[in-house]
Amino acid sequence: MPVISVPQDFNSEELYVDLRSIFEHSLFLKCEGFNFAGSIKLKAAAEMVAAAERDGILRPQSVLVESSSGNLGVALSMIAASKGYQFLCVTDSRCNLSTRRLMEAFGSQVHIITEPDANGGFLGARIAHVRALCASDNRYVWLNQYANPGNWKAHYHRTAPAIAAAFPLLDVLFVGAGTTGTLMGCARYFRERHRPVRIVAVDSVGSVTFGGTPGPRMIPGLGTSVRPPLLDESYVDDVMHVDEVDTIRACHRLARKGFLFGGSTGTVVSGAMDWLAQHNAHELTAVAIAPDLGERYLDTVYQTNWTQDLYGEDILDDTDRLTVGSRSI
Ligand SMILES: Cc1ncc(COP(=O)(O)O)c(C=O)c1O
Repeated sequence: MPVISVPQDFNSEELYVDLRSIFEHSLFLKCEGFNFAGSIKLKAAAEMVAAAERDGILRPQSVLVESSSGNLGVALSMIAASKGYQFLCVTDSRCNLSTRRLMEAFGSQVHIITEPDANGGFLGARIAHVRALCASDNRYVWLNQYANPGNWKAHYHRTAPAIAAAFPLLDVLFVGAGTTGTLMGCARYFRERHRPVRIVAVDSVGSVTFGGTPGPRMIPGLGTSVRPPLLDESYVDDVMHVDEVDTIRACHRLARKGFLFGGSTGTVVSGAMDWLAQHNAHELTAVAIAPDLGERYLDTVYQTNWTQDLYGEDILDDTDRLTVGSRSI
């Protein structure tokens, strides 16, 4: 029976959903949403805060500041509340209302950037705002998840070993790419142990992470408008780009079977099924990482008006049909 005194001490590493009965291929979905921050970002937040404390950067009078599309902001809000720090999250207008409310409930301040930067994305504008805050007052401490090695180390030390222990014969691992902390931590772990695991990154169409053309993206968590400094592409075997239409369809297909996951999980599952179909990979042991759960997306991914306004009237006419690239299966 786990008994805890601080919220960051609980995190489920052992739950997988076998998607074989919902999609055509066997795929084990590692569920990272079962902790008090509700997402995989708890591990990155805990690691980066611990390192900043060890290094003496974070002191009792410090004000933590971070740019986040939401989930890291929630995790840092929770840890800051637990440890007695102040926290200010810089996010943008794509951040879900419920995610913003969660941060505020933990006592954090939230600044919302509404004007995109010159690339048409929000990330550069968010980071410029963080830099301006740090220049204005030396109590601000920016952990900088985009460049902080604690971000990938959290997954090197926790996420990847948990997967390796559960699947000693793992063939392929699908990881969504935001800051690429999860991707790089897992990829480094398997590469250094000489495990023959194929690492497949899943990104959104419109993201520039792997050199694509920038385009509009509405689903937070995955994709970037500025290439992430943590990324080392030599660790990545394949990259799948997923259209947000396919993300929405995969999310709804899972929901119709009783599994309510977040938007980025739909992206990862859609990209993974596409890759497995292209590689005729029925015999492979495949794992994908589901970064969070779906309740934070009730006003977006799971709201008919939102999805129809953005992606067209017929987006959900046939959720049983999974679009794979330009084909349907
Ligand atoms: C919902 C969701 N999915 C995926 C990711 C991507 O994880 P990473 O930043 O480790 O690449 C994030 C990161 O914030 C997220 O919030």
